[in-house]
Amino acid sequence: MESRQNVPAGMEIKIKMKIVETIAEVRAQVKEWRAQGLSVGLVPTMGYLHEGHKSLMEEARKENDKVVVSIFVNPMQFGVGEDLESYPRDMERDSALCENAGAALIFHPQPEEMYHKDFSSFVDMNTLTKGLCGKTRPIHFRGVCTVVSKLFNIVTPDKAFFGQKDAQQLAIIRRMVLDLSMGIEIVGCPIIREADGLAKSSRNTYLSAEERKAALVLSRAVKLGRELVQNGEKNADKVVDAMRALIEQEPLARIDYVSAVDGLTMLPVHEINGGELVAMAVYIGKTRLIDNFSVEG
Ligand code: PAF
Repeated sequence: MESRQNVPAGMEIKIKMKIVETIAEVRAQVKEWRAQGLSVGLVPTMGYLHEGHKSLMEEARKENDKVVVSIFVNPMQFGVGEDLESYPRDMERDSALCENAGAALIFHPQPEEMYHKDFSSFVDMNTLTKGLCGKTRPIHFRGVCTVVSKLFNIVTPDKAFFGQKDAQQLAIIRRMVLDLSMGIEIVGCPIIREADGLAKSSRNTYLSAEERKAALVLSRAVKLGRELVQNGEKNADKVVDAMRALIEQEPLARIDYVSAVDGLTMLPVHEINGGELVAMAVYIGKTRLIDNFSVEG
């Protein structure tokens, strides 16, 4: 930690962000901050950061003295045939973005640091992980719960920040923290979109120019669904059907699911009464994109 000695009163000193790869280094840094009475926020990411991640870091910075960003492409949450190897990575660009957003520490472990060779413990959950993305990605949320639990144990944050674009993940993590008495406040942050509506995602980089245009069908479906609900539609199936019909008009789109579920349990609903999540996953070419909106409770 830089010394504050000999710094004239009132002069701001910019403390340089650190990048560490080991659990021990994170623990030592957090211990130092705790000794100074500082609060710590965590933004877990898989890197290839964009404005959505930046907004999480900025919120974390507002609500905490120190912000830790983890950058780890977690092998455990990728199924066979998914994009683990091709998942985009750019540590240099990510570091600059984190520093500009006010992060104090990046934790960038290698897989061996997170999963030693005899690793055999998992955090898993019933119900919430089975529908929506869990249907086609059966081991995904077990991997997410396990790695996020590990990150919580390593960083011991006061608060952790997640985007609402991954609405099912957010609901699952809230439930995990409650069920396992983790004592960490989970803060959900709004979806950040491109100017034309496409939700920001590291996977948008996979899209060709033609697919990029076709991908707008997701945000158009969200807009349609939201408008139907705002205009008083209470029948969830009608909302979902209208969204599906719109998506099906796009030749490059293939629907994985469009569903209306209870915002807490992730179980299907047929009526809109407030508190529901209307979510979708759609393949544009080979790229699987997600988007959603929540109905105010
Ligand atoms: O949302 C993500 O980027 C990942 O699922 C997370 C939460 C960082 C766990 O690997």
